Amino acid sequence: MIEAVFISNELPQHQQTVFMEQNMNCTEEFQNKGYTIVRGFIDPQSVQTISRYLENALKRYPENNQGGKSGDSSKISWYADPLIETVLLNSLPEMENITGSKLFPSYSFTRVYTKGDELKPHTDRPACEVSVTCHVATVGKPWPIWMQAPGSEPSEHYLEPGDACVYHGCQVKHWRTPATETDINVQFMLHYVKQDGPNADHKFDKRPSLGLNK
Ligand SMILES: [Fe+2]
Repeated sequence: MIEAVFISNELPQHQQTVFMEQNMNCTEEFQNKGYTIVRGFIDPQSVQTISRYLENALKRYPENNQGGKSGDSSKISWYADPLIETVLLNSLPEMENITGSKLFPSYSFTRVYTKGDELKPHTDRPACEVSVTCHVATVGKPWPIWMQAPGSEPSEHYLEPGDACVYHGCQVKHWRTPATETDINVQFMLHYVKQDGPNADHKFDKRPSLGLNK
């Protein structure tokens, strides 16, 4: 078995600067409101690559499509896909800009919702202190996600491919009502913890490294 370590993960400096300028409002909103919508979190070409990749990944790894566990919101999902774990790591500088905090990646998760699926209102576990849900693709009618910060009114959000909602996963309640007119909805979740926060020990979701199964 070959053990390889690849080094180049950094965004070129000019790309980092553009992203920082675009997301100054998002930072303010995230800190004040508990969540924010980041349009174009993933650029169009990359989101198309991710979409096509996930379609192939489902064909290659049919065990990801086993009907879900009881109580699961979708029948198709998988933990720590190699590509999405890469997105988790590569998004770290952007996520630190948006949140204004130094972060550790914890884990990524991919979900393909199908007709009739529902995400019940919930908050996430400690490894999801800062969470991202990034929209990849929809077949059928767009399907909004609902967000509700403590003490605030709920609000619904429609995301285009590449758009993301960044939120305090352990505090902000989120849900989706039953998908009656949406045939397929594909998204991935990225989770991080604050380096100086109470959940820092959930770095890599307590795995030896990213990319591994739990
Ligand atoms: Fe969640």
